[in-house]
Amino acid sequence: MQNFVFQNPTKLVFGKGMISKLAELIPANSRLMITFGGGSVKRNGVYDEVKAALAGREWIEFWGIEPNPAIETLRKAIALGREHKVDFLLAVGGGSVIDGTKLISAGLRYEGDAWDLVLKGCYTDTVPLGTVLTLPATGSEMNSGAVISRHETKEKYAFYSNYPRFSILDPEKTFTLPEHQIACGLSDTFVHVMEQYLTTAGQSRVMDRWAEGLLQTVIEIAPKIRENKHDYDLMADFMLSATMGLNGFVAMGVTQDWATHMIGHELTALHGLTHGATLAIVFNGTIRVLREQKRAKLLQYGARVWGIVEGTEEERIDRTIEATEAFFRSLGLSTRLSEEGIGEETIAEIERRFNEAGVAYGEAHNVTGSMARRILEACR
Ligand code: NZQ
Ligand code: ZN
Repeated sequence: MQNFVFQNPTKLVFGKGMISKLAELIPANSRLMITFGGGSVKRNGVYDEVKAALAGREWIEFWGIEPNPAIETLRKAIALGREHKVDFLLAVGGGSVIDGTKLISAGLRYEGDAWDLVLKGCYTDTVPLGTVLTLPATGSEMNSGAVISRHETKEKYAFYSNYPRFSILDPEKTFTLPEHQIACGLSDTFVHVMEQYLTTAGQSRVMDRWAEGLLQTVIEIAPKIRENKHDYDLMADFMLSATMGLNGFVAMGVTQDWATHMIGHELTALHGLTHGATLAIVFNGTIRVLREQKRAKLLQYGARVWGIVEGTEEERIDRTIEATEAFFRSLGLSTRLSEEGIGEETIAEIERRFNEAGVAYGEAHNVTGSMARRILEACR
């Protein structure tokens, strides 16, 4: 196990009716700005509950943070927040609203253009932020990351700032999610755990078992959620899995991969594909191309998560890779680039971008431009 420092300061406020706790969680005299997406919260009662919880308070609202939040939109929110001297932010929505609001929280404390902060990659002088989460997927409600897009140039990069002070998770508020968003949320959760688990074997028994527990939970609940997305306990386990999958709890003392995510961000930037949908495709390519490097962990994952224990090592790994792709397909997602009409032009552009940036992702720092090409070719 590697050395590590762990601290996650986000207060998790979980369960039915918990939005009513907002007034206790936001300091009384705050100059508050509440941020939203495109309006789903008006259709599922979340907006009314937030208003009721904050009755008697004053705040301003910023609407329209889109999926894959764009700097072009966030600049407007920062200008509005500056004008009103905002000193507390509440993000109400999915990962995109939360991520966008993380950049707003940093942008309010930075004189220049907030895109500078995205390019810098990290900025921790921020206005405090709380969240009400409506979509289990990203873990943004309990981590310090955000992913920001720039439409003008078709770019999408990760950015790190501070953790939310608190996050309210009411599983009932997920009942209105469209099926595709649920599928993408399950895929995102699964791949987050994999990015931290499917690396080098033998680093930590504790992390391995926690990660395998989350993977097994997602595999168990996914078909049941497809049958009934209004089951409170199923959605509660989905929500908690998503949060636990990317809040640092399965990352202590172990190496991490993230190559699938970095390639997936390019597919979103270039084609607008939903984040979880990109992962359902790319991850299959990653494990095919890096099967030797990940051999010991693939065998462990196959045995413990899928019960694949018979046959030679090669046969077991083949079956494990097949089971993984079948899992994404069972969510109703594409697992091949061709299904989304993506081909050589995009592969060449991603290879070019990786080469130009001189990156080398993954636990072995070997996912360069040419390796990204091999991965994408393996999921054509
Ligand atoms: O905008 P509204 O109208 O609210 O609708 C949203 C949006 O259209 C809708 N939605 C959300 N909750 C709903 C709902 N519709 C009905 N009922 C509800 N309860 O769902 C759509 C998608 O929302 P979005 O926030 O974009 O989805 P998600 O939470 O998957 O966030 C995706 C973004 O997060 C980034 C992704 O790259 C992408 O930009 N990620 C952030 C991470 C982080 N901060 O740590 C890590 C992840 O790997 C990921 O990269
Ligand atoms: Zn993700």
